[in-house]
Amino acid sequence: MRLEGHHALVTGGGTGVGRAIAQALAAHGARVTITGRREAPLRETAEGQAEMGWITGDVTRAGEVTRVVEQASQERGPVTIAVANAGAAESKPFAKTTAQDLDAMLAVNLHGVFNLWQAVLPGMREAGRGRLIAIASTAGLKGYPYVSGYVAAKHAVVGLTRSLALELAKTPITVNAICPGFAETPMLEESIDNIVAKTGRSREEAAKALASGNPQGRFVRPEEVADAVLWLAGDGAGAVTGQAISVSGGEV
Ligand SMILES: NC(=O)c1ccc[n+]([C@@H]2O[C@H](COP(=O)([O-])OP(=O)(O)OC[C@H]3O[C@@H](n4cnc5c(N)ncnc54)[C@H](OP(=O)(O)O)[C@@H]3O)[C@@H](O)[C@H]2O)c1
Repeated sequence: MRLEGHHALVTGGGTGVGRAIAQALAAHGARVTITGRREAPLRETAEGQAEMGWITGDVTRAGEVTRVVEQASQERGPVTIAVANAGAAESKPFAKTTAQDLDAMLAVNLHGVFNLWQAVLPGMREAGRGRLIAIASTAGLKGYPYVSGYVAAKHAVVGLTRSLALELAKTPITVNAICPGFAETPMLEESIDNIVAKTGRSREEAAKALASGNPQGRFVRPEEVADAVLWLAGDGAGAVTGQAISVSGGEV
């Protein structure tokens, strides 16, 4: 699969899943812009990659996302692949979850997707092609205890995906969500740290407990999520829209 002529924008592209997606898209010929709040991981990811640039920005702020998309489009042409990957997961029992906690989960995991897709859609319509891709989660398809805000936000992303796909079905723009199970990234490390701190279990035990939810008994590799993005980005996936694709070893 070759993606020459495409410009892909990946939010949260400096770490974990987003970094693997950005690298895979660049390796397949796309020009790539990565964004996130911290400069260091963006700079490090883009280093030595001729066709990859970075711009800092916060996906929870619509104005910042618009600025990032405008600058990226000036530098590398209209965005034709938009991967809304930035996200965060806070773990708390429901009884201790405040309205502010819920708002924070919705801000990054739902509004972050909304803000990116709003900002890139006019350019895609003009370019006459586009791929809107959200990195949701198995938490968009099933519940998990102690992460109700995160699960609610990821379910909302799947709903947004299905609805927008129908609105755009007569255009050459597809809209899909990818739903990974627990994947080997900094976010997973935080989840393990959290279990260790709250239960006194060892890191090994905590990791084993999380991996046991995956029927394959392992964590998903970020590169496996990136492969699904590559497929959706290609011309051959033109008939695939409104889907929530599970990459989870059969968990969902
Ligand atoms: N790891 C898993 O087990 C797993 C499973 C299913 C789904 N996912 C999803 O995969 C996506 C990537 O997560 P990951 O596992 O790769 O974790 P990660 O390494 O922690 O990545 C999260 C990325 O999002 C960026 N980010 C967070 N808040 C942001 C904001 N307000 N504005 C802009 N960027 C922001 C972070 O960069 P800055 O901090 O520099 O902003 C970081 O690069 C998330 O949507 C997550 O929900 C992960």
